[in-house]
Amino acid sequence: INIRQATVEDLISMQNCNLHNLPENYQMKYYVYHAISWPQLSYVAEDHKGRIVGYVLAKMEEDADTNKNDVPHGHITSLSVMRNWRRLGIAEKLMTQSQVAMGEVFGAHYVSLHVRKSNRAALHLYRDTLKFTVHDVEKSYYADGEDAYAMRKNLKGDD
Ligand code: ACO
Repeated sequence: INIRQATVEDLISMQNCNLHNLPENYQMKYYVYHAISWPQLSYVAEDHKGRIVGYVLAKMEEDADTNKNDVPHGHITSLSVMRNWRRLGIAEKLMTQSQVAMGEVFGAHYVSLHVRKSNRAALHLYRDTLKFTVHDVEKSYYADGEDAYAMRKNLKGDD
């Protein structure tokens, strides 16, 4: 398994992987927007034949200059790994690479994400493996009415 920065050529495969693994799906223009605006932040995992088996789609939050109290921070838009490739550490690697780039390239102070309350695997990954904490609960965040945990991880080592 090879983990590398995502390119514009990967976007169709990333969208396809997302459609397989999550109910939250996005139009191609949203993938393109990520790839063009923050090319350093999204990563793919490819198998030995170059097939995309996992991705992380990430961005910087844009409210940094409109909200005076805010600081630059990254946001994980979407993460998934194909079923046959899970529990091999791929998601952890994708997340770590993106987090490092958020800090190094964009000076992100922290990284945020949303996750379904019922998503045990992802919660384990974020809380136990990657050391995110629950910042807030957003009621009925998802289209089907499920609540989200808004999670954060500090990237500056001062919490
Ligand atoms: N049950 C319990 N803990 C788990 C599970 C699970 N099924 N899967 C991962 N973890 C935890 C474990 O602590 C694991 O460490 P360990 O294997 O040493 O015990 C750790 O996460 C690292 O796991 P990885 O192997 O890196 O995770 P994986 O590559 O399997 O991907 C993911 C995890 C992305 C959640 C995968 O299960 C998936 O694609 N699920 C469907 C899509 C999804 O839920 N995506 C996240 C939505 S939230 C968002 O996109 C911001």
